[in-house]
Amino acid sequence: MPLIVGNWKMKLSPMKAEKLCAALADRASEFMGASVVLCPSFESIAACSQILKKGSASIKLGAQDCCWDDKGAYTGAVSPMSLKELGCSYCIVGHSERRAFFGETDDMIAKKISYLLARTSITPILCVGETQKERTQGIQKKVIRRQLEKALSSIETIKVRHIVIAYEPVWAIGTSVTCTQKDCSSIVSYCDSILQKYSSKLSWKIVYGGSVSSENCASFVAKGVADGVLVGSASVDAKEFISLIQNSITL
Ligand code: PGA
Repeated sequence: MPLIVGNWKMKLSPMKAEKLCAALADRASEFMGASVVLCPSFESIAACSQILKKGSASIKLGAQDCCWDDKGAYTGAVSPMSLKELGCSYCIVGHSERRAFFGETDDMIAKKISYLLARTSITPILCVGETQKERTQGIQKKVIRRQLEKALSSIETIKVRHIVIAYEPVWAIGTSVTCTQKDCSSIVSYCDSILQKYSSKLSWKIVYGGSVSSENCASFVAKGVADGVLVGSASVDAKEFISLIQNSITL
């Protein structure tokens, strides 16, 4: 079953997010062949949770970020425990926009991943991926290895848990330019080979993100490429996102 995550970013007001969530919940029975996760911005999570509680079991809820602690003096931050209470079962961590615009470092990301894995039942969706400059410099794999290994550097104490890795090349995000199927498949295998050393602690899925649409999703969820997709722009339009889910399932 492909995992299809909609990252709504800061693109929808609470009213619009509720409307989109309700439109998707109405069609949830058609999504049985996929695991669909919606990640609204924080202020819309509670309302979406209420909508999804009314019998849309095939759609799960996620957040776009979280703090590395449960409570305390962290002005403006959001606790993973609160996200859990509101019904989130996934949380995106280390998105390239958080790294680029909000100064998120590998160390902060490692703290969030370790907290989520050790102290909550929320599944982290860890984003990794190189910039265009890093790709041109030929250090794509080095960057991805660093991001993965740093993010997973403090998971010694966890019991066996599940994690989702999202390979999101920064140059493909919001640009309409996607990674080729071949490159995607090769990076997914590379991530898989790095993750092998954590296999006593972790099970994982690896998804692709970056300008995924209803037109191109099939090439990424194809057998031997990725386990699913992380979708930005195409997930905030009900019609487009529903076709994207349908086109991913029929494979
Ligand atoms: P995009 O965003 O689909 O709009 O390229 C993907 C993401 O940032 O997760």
